Parts: sequence; structure tokens; C-alpha cells
Amino acid sequence: MRKAKVLLDRDFTIGRTDPRLFGAFIEHLGRCVYGGIYEPGHKTADKNGFRGDVLALVRELAPTIMRYPGGNFVSGYNWEDGVGPVKDRPARLDLAWFSTEPNTFGTNEFVDWCKAANIEPMLAVNLGTRGGDAARNLVEYCNHPGGTYYSDLRKKHGWPKPHEIKFWCLGNEMDGPWQMETKTARQYGAVAREAAKMMRWIDPSIELAACGSSGRTMPTYGKWEEEVLDETFEHVEFISLHTYLNNYNGDTAAMLASPDLMDSFIDEVVAIADSVSARRRSPKRIMLSFDEWNVWYRTRRPRANRIKPGWPVAPEILEEIYDMADALAFGGACISLLNHADRVKAACLAQLVNVIAPIMTETGGPAWRQTIFHPFAQMSRYGRGDVLRTRIESDIYDASYYDPRGDQDIYYPVKAPYLKLSAVAGEGGKSLTLFALNRDLKGEMQVQVDVRGFGGLKVAVAEELRHDKLDAVNDKNAPDRVSPQRLDGISVADGTVTMTLKPASWNVIRLESSK
Ligand code: AHR
Repeated sequence: MRKAKVLLDRDFTIGRTDPRLFGAFIEHLGRCVYGGIYEPGHKTADKNGFRGDVLALVRELAPTIMRYPGGNFVSGYNWEDGVGPVKDRPARLDLAWFSTEPNTFGTNEFVDWCKAANIEPMLAVNLGTRGGDAARNLVEYCNHPGGTYYSDLRKKHGWPKPHEIKFWCLGNEMDGPWQMETKTARQYGAVAREAAKMMRWIDPSIELAACGSSGRTMPTYGKWEEEVLDETFEHVEFISLHTYLNNYNGDTAAMLASPDLMDSFIDEVVAIADSVSARRRSPKRIMLSFDEWNVWYRTRRPRANRIKPGWPVAPEILEEIYDMADALAFGGACISLLNHADRVKAACLAQLVNVIAPIMTETGGPAWRQTIFHPFAQMSRYGRGDVLRTRIESDIYDASYYDPRGDQDIYYPVKAPYLKLSAVAGEGGKSLTLFALNRDLKGEMQVQVDVRGFGGLKVAVAEELRHDKLDAVNDKNAPDRVSPQRLDGISVADGTVTMTLKPASWNVIRLESSK
């Protein structure tokens, strides 16, 4: 049997997980809003039209912050279209997803939905077709108490108290040619800087994220971050990162290795951000907002897969059905985020419902959990605390991960340890949670964890996510086909935790101490 060893110490930490690390994303895209979170007339809908079955699953998933309204959609969005009496709201062509946006759900409904779900709202402003003026008006509308045009308009619309939205994204993927009114880094940096200034003049308590590259494969990657931060450094707290893992080539070992490229991506963006600080001799550190991440490929390319003709309302697009293998890669991405808790202070799983999502619904029918639901829910539940430094001894495999850029076929070499792991100490060191991915597709792995500084640990939770078939999926008739099962046979003795991980498995082991 393959063997791996882990060494950790309660006092040696990477950083504390910020609650915002466990965020997700709702875009006006396909059936994410309409038929997803919002479906008046659905048998579980409340008076606001919010689906109760979806809300129940969202509470179980436990995202902490929710990005809205896009995504590519935001770069053509007039926020004014989505507020005020619903009967007066215009339907518009959405050029991001070639559909018709009815605008029956907008900013105020989103804030109400977040309240119902006990989630912090995160808003993105349109820096594509619009700019600083529309952005500052939206901050006034949302956050100013009253006595001005936009704050009084909010009151007139039925929301007397300010929404107090703290986290704002300055546009979306502005480096991408697919974006409405894409820009160069210097152009975008200047627009973002001026928008940020005005937005903060209205509400000094807000936090702002500038757009980083829309992927590590972008030709402008690196230079983009440097120039954008050069323009915006004094005005933002965050730079964003986006990654969608794929298995276009049916090379599952490579897909499971690919979260290690997220680790590189994070390390590189930290280095670039810190070089911008260094050039200014500034103690300020820009934090990272990984505000789109997931597995996504089946419904991504070619473009025809993403579009339905005839400008439909809420078309069934990007409805990726996730299998067991995807859940493993997804778990690897969770570990990458946790292990960078010192600098990744916000992250959003893209997206929440129906659209590349952990939750699926049938319009008028049931809602269920996809395979990727489980690692996220476990990470959000057990990942709060201090992420520990780990030394991992594990065999390594060579992978060649395919990640196309436009029409170019690009392969990235990865040397991936079979064991990918994160360790989080909670409750002042009274608990230790191990998130462990066995990337060996065929073999079991015995893992020994030397847990220094923890006394009297006992197994409180031990769960594995695996299936004999890597292409197993959940659906409305078998919603629990892939779901966590008890992991047996864990021993804790003399400061060593020993466990056997099944081939191709995601495992969560929570140990608690009485001392
Ligand atoms: O999440 C789907 C899309 O992926 C988002 O709209 C965009 O920002 C990214 O390219």
C-alpha cells in the first residue's frame, strides 16, 4: 500500500481562515436566479418568490458571502433597471449570455434573499458599458442613510434602511475580449481607480476588489496585475483571481493535479502584489479575492454550448452535471484555498444554483445536491480556524494538464504529490480537522499524521466521499448516489493519527480534544 506522512504543529500556522473564504456567486445567467433561487409560484416559494427548498440547501451548504449580479452579465447591467416597481422594469437583451433579462429580480431582492439565507452580500459594479458615475450612484442607493436622490429612491422603493454592503467588486474580467467594453490594464486601472475613489467618498467603510486576470492562461497575465495595481494600489484592498478546472482530455489524474496550479497562481499573484508594495516602500499588503472558482468544462466550449438561440429568458445553459471525479478536483481546490488563508481573504464558488453549481433544481420540481456540494459544505463547516503548516511526505506523479487558451492547445506540467492535505485547528486548538485528497486513482494510501502540540485527540467526525465509478453523478432520482460515508479504522495513539484512504477519495477527519 502507498504510504504518506504528515507532520504538523499546533503552534505553526499559515493564517486564520477569513469567514469570506467560504463564499459563492449568483449571476443573472441561465437558471441561477430565475428557476434557481427565485421562482414565484413554486410550491416551496415564500411571499418574495424565494424557493424554500433551495434556501434550505443553501443553509446546509453554508456559504458566507454571495457575489452578485455577475460575472460577464454585470458588464452590461444597468442597476437602475432592477429596482422600483416590478411592472415598470424593462426587459433587456443581455449580451453576455445572449438571453433576455426580465429584471423582475434586482439589487433589493438580492439583499432580501441574502438576509433570508444569513449571507453577506457582495456587489459588483459595471465598469464595462458604464463607469464611476453609475457605480457611485449605486453605493449611494445602497448605503447612504437618506436625504439624497438615490438614498431616498431606495426608501421610496420600500427599503428604508441602508443595505450596508461592505464588499464591492470593481467590474468583472475586464481583461477578457468576451467582456462588454474590455479594456487594457492601464485603461481599466484608471477607470477602477476613479470609481473606487468616488465610491469610498460616499461610504468610507467599504472594501474594494480590483479585477485581476480572468485566468492564469491569459496572455496578459502578470503584467495585467502589475499595471492594474500600479493604478489602483491606494484605493483597493483586494485583487481578484478566477480559475475553472477542467477535464477536456479525459485525463482524470491531470485534472486532480490541476489544483496545484491554483497554488502557483495564488503564490504568483501574491508576489506581484507585494512587488507593487515594495516599489512604493509600502507596508500595505493587497489581499486576494478568489471570486470565481470551480470545475467547468462540459458546458463551456465550444461557445455554441453556452448559448441558446432566440434570446430566451433563463435558458438552460451552463448546467454542468458534476461527477465523482469533479468532486475530487473540487476538493483539491478547497485545500488550495485553505492553505493560502494568509492571503486569500475572500473566495466565491462559481456559482450557486443550476449554473455550474452545487445545487440543481427542476423548474416547478425538486432541488438536490450535486457531488461538489459535499466538499464545499464540509470546508465551510469545519474549515474555520487556524490553517497549520504541514510537511507532507508523499509519492509524486507527473501530470500534463491541458488548459486551452483561445485556439491554442497548452499543456502545463505538474508534479503532484498523491496526497493533498490541509489541516485546520479550531476552537483555540481544541479541534483539528484534516481535509485529505488521495489522488491515487487505483491504490489505497496509509497516512500517518504526527500531530504535535495537541493532546488527547479523539475522532469526532470521519467522512469519505468516493464511488467505485468516477463518472457517478447525483440526479433528482438518485440525489444521494455520491454523498459522504463514514470513514472507519482511524487510530489515534502517541500523538499519531493513522488512517487508510481509499483510492480516488476526498476525506474529512475532525479530531477533538478534551484538554
Ligand atoms: O461563471 C461563469 C462566467 O465565467 C462568469 O460570468 C465570468 O466572469 C467567467 O468567465
